[in-house]
Amino acid sequence: MKDVVTVDGSPIGRTPRSNPATYTGVLTPIRDLFAALPEAKMRGYGKSRFSFNVAGGRCEACGGGGAKLVELQFLAPVTVPCEECGGHRFQAETLEVHYKGKSIADVLAMTAEEALELFRDHPKIARPLEVLVEIGLAYVTLGQPSTTLSGGEAQRMKLATELQRRPGGQALYLLDEPTTGLHLADVARLVAAFQKLVDLGHTVVVVEHNLDLLLAADHVIELGPEGGAEGGRLVAEGTPEAIERTKGSPTGEVLRALRRSRAGGLAAPVERTVPGGPRQAAASAISIRGARTHNLQGIDVDVPRDALTVVTGPSGSGKSSLALDTIYTEGRRRFVESLSTYARQFLGTKDRPPVDRIDGLRRRRRSTTTCACSSPAPGRGIARTTARSSRRATRAGSRGASSRSSTGARAGSSRRSRSPRRS
Ligand SMILES: Nc1ncnc2c1ncn2[C@@H]1O[C@H](COP(=O)(O)OP(=O)(O)OP(=O)(O)O)[C@@H](O)[C@H]1O
Ligand SMILES: [Mg+2]
Ligand SMILES: [Zn+2]
Repeated sequence: MKDVVTVDGSPIGRTPRSNPATYTGVLTPIRDLFAALPEAKMRGYGKSRFSFNVAGGRCEACGGGGAKLVELQFLAPVTVPCEECGGHRFQAETLEVHYKGKSIADVLAMTAEEALELFRDHPKIARPLEVLVEIGLAYVTLGQPSTTLSGGEAQRMKLATELQRRPGGQALYLLDEPTTGLHLADVARLVAAFQKLVDLGHTVVVVEHNLDLLLAADHVIELGPEGGAEGGRLVAEGTPEAIERTKGSPTGEVLRALRRSRAGGLAAPVERTVPGGPRQAAASAISIRGARTHNLQGIDVDVPRDALTVVTGPSGSGKSSLALDTIYTEGRRRFVESLSTYARQFLGTKDRPPVDRIDGLRRRRRSTTTCACSSPAPGRGIARTTARSSRRATRAGSRGASSRSSTGARAGSSRRSRSPRRS
């Protein structure tokens, strides 16, 4: 794998200066476009004139924030719109430059869908916007502060960014309950996004209860039968159809009931990605043997590559322990191990999850390595460190690996995860 990535619903920016336009990167080509307009050229306005993060074109009364913090003696401070710019964040002169009748502030107030319409002829801007629309974020305005996005929106924003950023490499994506809070229609969009990742050659593992997502999976791993000490066992594994036929599988029972109620059969919302299911794909799988993280009882499971796998089961059955604390943690650890000692000290510990071996994390068509490990369970956490951030860490010393976080971490702990180049 080139990269191991978790994508969760943690905030995508800690400051209100980050927004969908900056996060997806469309603001850069939009600013280029504005700076290239005859009106801008005549006035000598460059690209930075259209940024609210650098002095030049932004409103200096609020520093481009669009709002001011008012301290109240006994109460929490409140933010009020800047009276100078009225919350537009720019100087009046900056807003006199228009593209098709819209100023840069007008553009930031547009939804992704409206902006897509406006910039249809500019692929660099339209492409990321298209992905936002496809993934169900058509209604989000480009300038909405990232801090105000809901967890589900933040997660889809990250997925949208992944979808347009990685056309080739093989990555392993791990998501914990991504449908939480989503409407049925949005679930279908999310499933479509996963299928797209798989089409691009990535491997996706999702912890989920949502039946539509489960039915779209190529492979299902059901843990249980209960939570805590009564959980951590493999109850069923296979295609959704195989789960349905498995006696004693609570998920199978639900699927059978669903089939009866839908009468017409269990139509998956989207086509399966692996024709014939994981059996065919078994030659290329991440195999986990003897996983004992937390309550996992030494289970053996296979995760087909280039496919969508759903891990399901009751609360406390060990789903997150398997997906994040075992597979993700091991992927990250192997990446960190491949780095220099100096780089490693900034990337945290290299805890081995308690698992006998994990094969198949390597890039395809190379022989696999095995790992025999037995140390105590690691703490939960880290999401992803990119090759870039770790390199930067190497350079930046104590500033650490906390550069750009496209992911957050489980349990609210921190950021950046890693991309194993060699495992
Ligand atoms: N860091 C930890 N140390 C010790 N035990 C843990 C730790 N994290 C989880 N557990 C325990 O391991 C078991 C499995 O937890 P896990 O988080 O994997 O469950 P889950 O299947 O993801 O549940 P949910 O659907 O509620 O998220 C639980 O009994 C939990 O209390
Ligand atoms: Mg969980
Ligand atoms: Zn202002």
